[in-house]
Amino acid sequence: MSLSPTEIRPGTSAGTGHCVRLNYADVTKEIVVPTGSTVLEAAETAGARLVNQCRIGTCGTCVGRVRTGELAMAEGRVYPLRSDEIGEGMRLLCQSHALAETDVDLDYPAAMLDDHPVVATTVKVAGLDRLADTVVELVVRLPKSPRFSFRPGQYVRFRIPGTAEWRSYSMASGQRHNRRLAFTIRLLPDGAMSDYLRNRAAVGDELEMEGPFGSFGLDEDSPGPVLMIAGGTGLAPMLSMLETLQTARERHPIRLVFGCARMADLFHLDEIEARRGFTTGLDVRVVVDEPTDRSGILTGNPVSVLTPEDVADPRSSAYLCGPPAMLDAAHERLQVLGMPRDRIHSEQFLPS
Ligand code: FES
Repeated sequence: MSLSPTEIRPGTSAGTGHCVRLNYADVTKEIVVPTGSTVLEAAETAGARLVNQCRIGTCGTCVGRVRTGELAMAEGRVYPLRSDEIGEGMRLLCQSHALAETDVDLDYPAAMLDDHPVVATTVKVAGLDRLADTVVELVVRLPKSPRFSFRPGQYVRFRIPGTAEWRSYSMASGQRHNRRLAFTIRLLPDGAMSDYLRNRAAVGDELEMEGPFGSFGLDEDSPGPVLMIAGGTGLAPMLSMLETLQTARERHPIRLVFGCARMADLFHLDEIEARRGFTTGLDVRVVVDEPTDRSGILTGNPVSVLTPEDVADPRSSAYLCGPPAMLDAAHERLQVLGMPRDRIHSEQFLPS
C-alpha cells in the first residue's frame, strides 16, 4: 500500500512506527517509519524520494541531519561519517530507524530528484588526456537518449570494462557542454579503474554509466561569498560548480583553494587561470606540500593556508572536496575560524 505524505499529521507516533518529517531545501514531507523499516524504505513507500546509491551504508550518499528526535543506525559498523558528524546528528537514511518523532534536514531540494533522475546508459569515451603524473582527464559522450542531466557537484559511476566493478567520479564539467562530460581521475598504483585507464582505455570505448548521484552542490538558499577547498581530484566538482557561479545573477567573491601533495601532481593550472580571467570575483590559491619557488604557488596544504579573512563575511559558505583527512582538518579549522557547521558542505573522495 502506498502512503501519501499528507495522510500523516505532525505528532503521529504509534507502536507501529514514528512520524518523520523530511525537511528538503524546498519542501517538507511527512512520513511514518514503521518499526523495522529504514527511513529510506519508508520514504520510498510513501512516495518521498531521497538521494541514495548503495543502500547498504557504504557510499555516504543518503545523509540527513537530525534536527529533533532520534534516528539510530546499527552499532558496531563502520560508516562513511566522521564521529563529529554523527555527534552533530548526521545519519545515513538507508541505515537509520526512527526511535521517536523526528525532524530530518536534507540539504537538497526535493525537486532535484525530479529534475535530474538517475539513468543507466552507455557512453563513449571521447577523450583521454594525462593531466599530471597521477591524474587523467576522461571525457565521455552521452547518447541522445535517455536524457541525462545533473546538478553541478553530483557524481556518476562507471562499470570498469571487463569487470563487475563500479567506480564513482564527480563531473568536472558543467551543464552547458552538450552531451559531453569531463572527469578528472586520480591514477592509483593498483586501482582497477586506474589499470584500465593506464593500459587499455581508448577513444571510442563504450562504458556503462549510472547517475547522477549525490547531493553535493551549491546551496542556493545561502547566497554570499563562496570558499571552495579542493584536495587533488577534489577539484572536479569545484570546476563544475564554478561554471554555475560564472553565470549567477548575484555576484559574490569566490575563493578557490586547491592543493596537491607534489608539484608533479598539480593539474589544470591553465584552466584555473582561464577561469580567473572570466569569472568575476574569483580569487585562487594553489598550494603544494613540498617546498617550491614557483611563482604563485604556496607551500603547505589547502587547510594550512586558510585565514580568518576567508570566512570574515558571515554570509560565507564553504564547499570541501578531497580525502577524508583533509576534510576533517578543514571542518575543524573553519569552525575554529567561526564558520557555522551548517554552512560547510563537503564531499569525501575515497580511493577504491
Ligand atoms: Fe549509500 Fe546510504 S545509500 S550509504
